[in-house]
Amino acid sequence: MTDNKKRLVVLISGSGSNLQAFIDQCADGRLDADIAAVIANKAGAYGLERAQNAGIDTAVIDHRNYPDRSTFDAELAKTISHYQPDLVILAGFMRILTPDFVRRFHGRLLNIHPSLLPKYPGLDTHQRAIDAGDSHGGATVHFVTEELDGGPAIIHAPVPISAGDTADTLAAKVLKEEHVIYPMAAEWFIQGRLTLHDDGAYLDQQKIPAGGLDKNRFA
Ligand code: GRF
Repeated sequence: MTDNKKRLVVLISGSGSNLQAFIDQCADGRLDADIAAVIANKAGAYGLERAQNAGIDTAVIDHRNYPDRSTFDAELAKTISHYQPDLVILAGFMRILTPDFVRRFHGRLLNIHPSLLPKYPGLDTHQRAIDAGDSHGGATVHFVTEELDGGPAIIHAPVPISAGDTADTLAAKVLKEEHVIYPMAAEWFIQGRLTLHDDGAYLDQQKIPAGGLDKNRFA
């Protein structure tokens, strides 16, 4: 960790492949930031091992040890704030956050959702896209607001759905794209190019359209 770099805190619940993309891109300089800590709500989350292998501080705050969401979120917020992050990254963090928590980190809290928002907020996104006969699935990086999977979108990556795709094969293809667009959005934020305003997200002072920028613009 260096003093002058922007600081990230990453929240995970599982495998942490998105976290790994952040670790790799911080290491090779594509992302000009340090990961100050990785926090999981599950002790067995494989992402914790990824963090430890990279020498990053980890913490486990198990939601089952707290009587309600607000007590859990208060502890989570306290632990995050201890690391004084510029940006908080939700990377497969499978807990719904309280409005108080979201307000506390307003404008510096990002999530990635595995669908082309506003389609399919919530769970089972890939199966729902297949069942609907959609031509594309995908993923969207967005600012987190009080509305579940509903904050202003930043960038999305469309992934064609092929005949024979299952939720698992589509998820694997989408995940690869997640590893590209999520650190990309974070780097925009780190550079001060990406901001959240009352009427939406902005990149370089230009309002980002609903649904977010298309990754193919940046290929
Ligand atoms: C990703 O598909 C992400 O979009 C969703 O949870 C999954 C996390 O995967 N929110 P990983 O833990 O980063 O591998």
